[in-house]
Order: sequence, then C-alpha cells, then structure tokens
Amino acid sequence: MSIQIREETLLFTLNTKRTSYQMHVDRYGYLLHQYYGRKTEGDMHFLLTFRDRGFSGNPYEAEGDRTYSMDYLPQEFPYLGNGDYRRVLLKVADESGTIDCDLRYDSYRVEDGLFSIPGLPAVYADETNRKTGEGAQTLIITLKDDLLKLEADLYYGVLPKLDIITRAACIRNCGETSFTLEKAQSACLDFVTGDYDAVTFYGRHCMERNMQRCNVGHGTMTIGSTRGTSSHQYNPSILLVDHMATEDYGNCYGMSLAYSGGFKGEIEKDQYNNIRVLLGLHDELLAYPLGAGQEFWTPEAVMSYSSKGMARLSQNFQRCVRMHICRGKWRDLPRPVVLNSWEACYFDFDGDKLVDLARGAKDLGAEMLVMDDGWFGERNDDYRGLGDWSVNEKKLGRPLKDLVREINDIGLKFGIWVEPEMVNEDSDLYRAHPDWAMTIPGRHPVLGRNQLILDFSRKEVVDAIYDAVSTVLDSANIEYLKWDFNRSIFNVYSHGSLSQGQVLYNYVLGLYDFLERLNRNYPDLLIEGCSGGGGRFDMGMLYYTPQIWCSDNTDAIDRTRIQYGTSFLYPVSSMGAHVSAVPNEQTGRVVSLKTRAAVAMSGTFGYELDPSRLSDAEKEEIRQQVRDFHQYADLIQHGLYYRLSNPAQDEIAAWEMFAEDASQALVFVVCLASHGNMTVNYVRLRGLKKDRFYKDEESGTVYPANALMQIGLPVPAEMGEYNSYRWHFTIV
Ligand code: GLA
Repeated sequence: MSIQIREETLLFTLNTKRTSYQMHVDRYGYLLHQYYGRKTEGDMHFLLTFRDRGFSGNPYEAEGDRTYSMDYLPQEFPYLGNGDYRRVLLKVADESGTIDCDLRYDSYRVEDGLFSIPGLPAVYADETNRKTGEGAQTLIITLKDDLLKLEADLYYGVLPKLDIITRAACIRNCGETSFTLEKAQSACLDFVTGDYDAVTFYGRHCMERNMQRCNVGHGTMTIGSTRGTSSHQYNPSILLVDHMATEDYGNCYGMSLAYSGGFKGEIEKDQYNNIRVLLGLHDELLAYPLGAGQEFWTPEAVMSYSSKGMARLSQNFQRCVRMHICRGKWRDLPRPVVLNSWEACYFDFDGDKLVDLARGAKDLGAEMLVMDDGWFGERNDDYRGLGDWSVNEKKLGRPLKDLVREINDIGLKFGIWVEPEMVNEDSDLYRAHPDWAMTIPGRHPVLGRNQLILDFSRKEVVDAIYDAVSTVLDSANIEYLKWDFNRSIFNVYSHGSLSQGQVLYNYVLGLYDFLERLNRNYPDLLIEGCSGGGGRFDMGMLYYTPQIWCSDNTDAIDRTRIQYGTSFLYPVSSMGAHVSAVPNEQTGRVVSLKTRAAVAMSGTFGYELDPSRLSDAEKEEIRQQVRDFHQYADLIQHGLYYRLSNPAQDEIAAWEMFAEDASQALVFVVCLASHGNMTVNYVRLRGLKKDRFYKDEESGTVYPANALMQIGLPVPAEMGEYNSYRWHFTIV
C-alpha cells in the first residue's frame, strides 16, 4: 500500500517506488512533518529535536514545557496563529479583523486513486477513472479550529511509480459567521538541516525560464507573480537541491504548482537553520470571504524527490506531466508538423496568401497550416478587433469553410489562433458590453498591447465568448487552436457580484471552465497554450493544452537556454518550437537551418516562415528535416530527456532523448562559442546501458557505453559559428 498509517501513534507514511514522506500528530494535536526523502521504513520521530529556545513561544497545554515550540518544529500546514514566526501557508481574518487560527488534528481517511479538485486541474493516475490506477492513493487529514469553526482537509495524492506526491487543501467554514482567507497556499516542505541550493526559473517576455541556482541563506527568498498569470517572470516551481548536487548526484526536491494564475513561492532559512519552502496562490490581491457552509480549494502542488540528482527529478516531473496531467487524444499521438502564419506574414495576409502558404508548406512536408492573429473582426493590427470572434470574410475573400476546404484539398490540416480572454476598446464587443472588461470605475485602465482583460470571473462573460469561439469552430474543419493571452492583468475589478478579493482566483476558474468545455466538446481538437510565448507555461494549462508555445523568441541559440530551463519541470512534448527565418526577428542572429531545426525538433516542431522566400536548396533541406523528425518523433516525444550541458555557462548546448528500453539515444549538440585553436568539448552521454555498445547509425562507428558516459563524445572541430550535430545511437 502506498499509504501506511500507525493508528496508535497517528503516524502517516506515504511511500512511492523510491521515496517516503512521513508526518505525525503530536500529543497536542499538531500535525508535524517528519521526513521526506529516500524510501525508508520506521518512525523518523528522532529527527525532531526539542530544546528550550528563548523567545519561541509554547502552546498553552504544554504547561510550562519550554522545549516545545511551533516556532521551530517542522510542520505540514503552517498557519498564522500558533507561535510560528516563519512564513506560513494560511492566514485567516475573522469578522472583527483579528488574524488568528489554531488548527488541530481531527480525523483522516484514505481513498483509492488520486483526488480531483472542483474546477481546478489535478494529477490523475487513470484518466478515465480517478478512483483507480497503478496503486495510487489519496490521504485526507482533517484539521479543525473549534473557535473559528474552520476545517481544513489536507489532501495528499501518492503516485507511486513516478515518485510523485500531490498536495492541496480544502478550507471549509462550518460555523455561522464568515471569515476571510488572506493567504491560502498549497504546500509546505520543512527541512530541519541541510546545505541546499534553491533552483528557480526567472525571465521576461522572449526570454523565459532562465535557471537560477543560489545557496539558501538566512532570510526569505520570494518568487511569484501578481500578473494574473503564472508569468514570463517566474515559473511557479521551486527545486531545493543539495549544494553539491549535479544532474546525477545528490538529494533533489521539487515542487510545482498546477495553476495558471498568480502565485507565490517562498524559501526561508530561519534562526535555527531550518529551511521552509512554501508554494501556492499569491496573497497580495487575495481576500477571499468564506460564509457559512462555503469552502475554498487551493490549487494542487506537485512534488517529487530524487536521491540521484536533478536528471531523475526532472524525468519524474516530465513523465508526470506527459502521462498524468496532459489529457485526451493528443496526449500520446505524434503532433502534426505545422506551418504558422505569424512570422511568415504577421497581420498582412488574405485568403490567397494563406493558400499560397499552404501549398508551400505541403511541398516542404508540413502537415498543418495555422492561421495566426488577424482573421477576425477588424483585426488588421494590434489596436482593434479583439473580442469580435467573427470571421473577416472580406479579408479572406471567402467564407472560412471554403478556405479550410481549399487547404484540406491541398492535403493539410487547418488551425486558428484565438485570444478569448481579451477585448480591445475598439471592438463591437466592448462597445456593447464595456462592463465585461476589468476596469476600475472612475479610473483610466492600464493598457497592455492596447487591450483590456475580459472578466472571466463572470459566468455570463465566459459563456458568451465560449459561444462565439465555438461558432467559429463549428463552421469549418478546424483541427487545432492556439489559445493566446497577451498582457498581464492589472486593475483587478469585477462589475459582477463577487467581492474584489475573489476575482483573480475566480477568473482562473472561469478560464479553466472554458478550456474544460472545449476539451469535452471538441475531443479531437489539438489545443496549444500561449501567452506571448511562455507567459503561462505551467502544469495547470498543460491539463487542458498538451503543448504550449515555449517563447515568442524563435532564435535557436536563445531557445537552447529557454528549453533547457523548461526541461527541469516539463516534457519535450509540451514545448512548442518552430524554425523561423533568419536574421531572427527577435535577436537579429543568423543561425544555420540545420541548427534551427535541431532546436525546434527538440519540441513539437514546425515552421514559422514564408516558404516562397526559401531557395531550392533550403527547401530540400527542410524536406529532409521533416523526414528526420518523423523518424525520431516517438523517441523525441516519449523518450527520457537528459540535459548534457548548461547552455548558460558552457560552450555547447547538449541534450539527449533516450528510449526507456535503453535501445536508442538521440543526441544533439549546438556550439555556442567559437574560438581560435578551440579546446575540445566532450559530451558525456547519460542513461546508456552499462557494459554495452552503441552504434552511431550514420557513420556505423560502435562505441562502448561506459566510455561515452564516463569520458564522452568529442565534439567535431568544424569551423563556423553555431554549428550543430546530431547522433542517433542504437544498442548493439
Ligand atoms: C503572441 C504569440 C505569437 C503570436 C502573436 C499574435 O505574441 O505568442 O506567437 O500569435 O501573439 O498576435
């Protein structure tokens, strides 16, 4: 059983294949955290120490026992009110404004399968039946505050085979008077000792998920987003790794939030060198009133631990996302090679141009044409039209249905771009329903890309936009949808009935409701998430959209860094990546077609250029790239992913996709620096079967796996900048 409970001592142990997680209810009814790490039998209570500490308060019932204090004991669900001065998960204000809470153990129950959360994404074991699947179980521990009449159900989901533990909490008001949640987060991990580095992922538009690793010092390090999205600026994930940890050595913990709105992550080292990691909703714009009988769910946090370095930790997360978060038909199917119109012609197209693009795309071997922004309302630039989801037939020169038929006849599938959460002031929708936009009465709103946010916390708004978008989807054979979101939320204000401190959270519920309906009603539709590239790249969106446009930056060299950072939590199958024209539109850099394809192929793969501007030689090269991609598609999409270098530090970017049965490996290397009389870079492969041999399929050379993994493969010394190499090894 993955969940073991010792009734006499109220000791709860969660076991996965290689990890154990343990907690215990102490004599005062507090739920203390005891252990998370390598799989272990026994009671780890000895890890907790009890000392008389000055200025650390003691519970009243401790009757003068000054060695017991919540100020330093490791906890499962820290809240403001019991003498813990560290950062907390929960902060509750009663009707008088008093901020306090006192949660003690009440009961527990165990269920089969993994829990679900109403209206929010959650990891599943078996997609068709949440109550079953691979030995997965859920433990629910209920804590109670008798004065506030507040109950908190702490949910722990255990997915044994992937070493994944999920957490969420449901807070209930069981009393008559209301209280307000001012902070309500998902998960806490307390560490009583250790020298750890915090690994986080920061960035900006066009340069997302740069990896930062820094030693955890005293004080609190905070990451987060108050933008209403998980954001380009910080990914909602924290890794805590041994200071000496590498890709294949050391204790590594990870936590990621399956939520697409604002979040906050905190890493605190306290006065006694305890480290606390917290992750959940951002509290800055949260003030969530709970009336009698109402409940509130925190989003889910997904956790994993590896005793063998960061590669395994990442693989646990990648597999969890690929097989237990992404859903539907496209979860496992090879994704079509697309040609997207955006960098090919931006807003400047008509129906004939799209047909030309489709012909060119077909000639290159692509399988789908995506008509990006600019096909609806008066949308000929980014100043107007958002909100008016009616096809601009004048611009296309024919009804959409006819255009799609022409493109299908050429032999391509067809997809469209939408940005359902937005409205331009210059739109029929805004003129008809100005109160559907989030604006604060009496103030001018802050604009972003000239647009306003539609208030998705209101059901009537979600319903109306859903109807408009689904009318378009029903009107033609549309097989793919790119869902975009191109500004940050500001001026949080709903003209509906919610109190304003609820709006951001309910906004995300509205977004998920829309996406859930799309998934249910259009099961064959492939949906790609996007927010100016990777501004909403999180496990929440991936529950609804199995791939996300990784970045608006299509420069292959920058992309090696962006995709490197993304790989710590997310699988290759989720990373939208295309080859675009050079000089690159975002950086001006010129990189060979070969290198651009090597990088885009390590994602969902496609093109974002005008085929009519390519030379015959380039076209021929692309046809071969598409054939190569098809040859390796299964390995790329379903293989284990290994990082072989750090492109932000090293002279090369290198990575490997490795078949789970050890039969083959695909290795890519991109040279990032070129110098006179270069020293040799060796790329050490990972995961290969020890004592066996692997053959390079192109040259026929056979290499001993041990040497490839211990010393590595020397990178060729070809002249030129940004060369790339690809090896396909098969076991002999
Ligand atoms: C965002 C997306 C781009 C493109 C444009 C269209 O920036 O990330 O790929 O779709 O919007 O306006």
